[in-house]
Amino acid sequence: MIILGIETSCDETALSIVEITEGDKTPHFKVLSNVLISQTSIHEQYGGVFPMIAKREHAKNLTPLLHKALEEAGLYAKAGVHAVIGTEHLEEIKTLLAREPELFTLLSPFLKQTKKPHIDALAVTTGPGLEPALWVGINFAKALASAWNIPVVPVNHMEGHVVASLLNPESTQTAKVLQTISFPTLAVLLSGGHTEMIHLKSWREYEMIGQTKDDAVGEAFDKVARILGLPYPGGPQISKLAEEARKNPTKLEQPIQLPRPMLHSGDYSFSFSGLKTAVLYLVQSKTKASGALSEKLQREIAREFEDAVTEVITAKTRAAIEQYGIQTIILGGGVVANTHIRNAFSQMATEYDIPLHLPTGPLSTDNALMITIAGYYVFAEGGTVDPSLLKAQGNMRLAA
Ligand code: KG4
Ligand code: ZN
Repeated sequence: MIILGIETSCDETALSIVEITEGDKTPHFKVLSNVLISQTSIHEQYGGVFPMIAKREHAKNLTPLLHKALEEAGLYAKAGVHAVIGTEHLEEIKTLLAREPELFTLLSPFLKQTKKPHIDALAVTTGPGLEPALWVGINFAKALASAWNIPVVPVNHMEGHVVASLLNPESTQTAKVLQTISFPTLAVLLSGGHTEMIHLKSWREYEMIGQTKDDAVGEAFDKVARILGLPYPGGPQISKLAEEARKNPTKLEQPIQLPRPMLHSGDYSFSFSGLKTAVLYLVQSKTKASGALSEKLQREIAREFEDAVTEVITAKTRAAIEQYGIQTIILGGGVVANTHIRNAFSQMATEYDIPLHLPTGPLSTDNALMITIAGYYVFAEGGTVDPSLLKAQGNMRLAA
C-alpha cells in the first residue's frame, strides 16, 4: 500500500509518500518522496515560532509541496479534459476548508487539474504541537480524503520521533525497516516543544513516566540563546559555544554555576524555566558593570547550561533504567542533534550494556517520513477514523 503523510505541528511543512510491503517478519518501507519546507528563517526574526505565522506558511506551502511530493514519487499526472472533481464536490471541499481560505485557493485548481494519484491512505499529525499549525495539516488531510475518497489515520507526533530513532540507519531508501528492540524500552524525547520520558512495555504500548512542568528542553536552549544574544534556533549555537569552552576552558575568578533543577525530585519530572531565569539574572549581573557580555563568559555560560541540562536528563534516565529494568533506550527529537547529550547517552548505554537508538541526519528534526511510517502502524492496527472526527490536540499525550 502507499501512504501520504502530512506534518505541520510546528514550523516545518512536510510531506512524505511511502510504499509499504509486508516483509517476512517486518514491513519494508520504500521512500517514494520526503519533502519539507522549513520556516526557520521566517521565525528567526521573531526569535521563536509564532503559531499564526506558522499557520499562514503551512497554508501557502502545502499545495506546491504536494505537487513536488507526487512528482518525486512518480504519482503525478495531469487530468485530461474532464475535471476530476465536480463543482458540487469542490463546494464540499470548500466547506471543509472554510477556516483555511488561502489553502482552498491554492488547492482547488490543483485538485481539478490533477489525476487521482495511486495513494491508499493518509496519515496526519494531530498533536502534540501548535494548534493553529496542526489544524492546517488536518484540514488538508480532510480535503484530500474527500477529493480522493481514501481513509485517514491520526498520528501522534511523538510516536513519529520514536519511529525516526528506530529506522535502521543501514537500511536503504527503497527498503527501510525498523530495528527489532527488547522491552521494556525507555524513550527519552527532547524537542522544542516536548521533554518526555516514556516507558514502552511492548510495541506501541506507552506509559508516560515524566515530562516537563514548564519549558521544554529545546525551548530552554532557544531562550537561553536569546538571553546570550544568539540567533534562533539557539540549540545549535549554544552547543557550538559549549564545545569551544570545553576545548579551551577559561579560568574565571568566579566559576559559572547554574542550578540542576529537579535533580533530586525523586520522580521523572523536569523544569527548565528556573534554569533559564538563573541565566538571565547571571547575565544581568555580569553586564550591569561592563555592558556587553564577553565572549569568554558567553562560552562558559553556554557550557554550564548544557552541563546542567545534560546532568538532569541523564540522572533521570539512569533512575528509570534501574526502576523499570530497561532493555533498550530510544533518544528522539530535535535536541538529540546536541553532541554533548548524545555522548552522555552513548556512555550511559555502554555502561549499562543496553542498545541506544538515535535518529540519524535529517530524521532527528521534524519530518513527514516518521509520521508516514508511524501512520502505517496506526493503520495496520485499525486506527482509521472518520475524517470529520479529526481534531488538533495541542497537548496530546503518548500514553494510555
Ligand atoms: O524536534 P524539533 O525539530 O522540533 C520540535 O518538534 O520542537 O526540535 C527543535 C529544537 C529547537 O528548540 C532547537 O533549538 C533544538 O531542537 N536543537 C538543539 C540542537 N539542535 C536543535 N538543541 C540543543 N543542541 C543542538 N545541537
Ligand atoms: Zn518534533
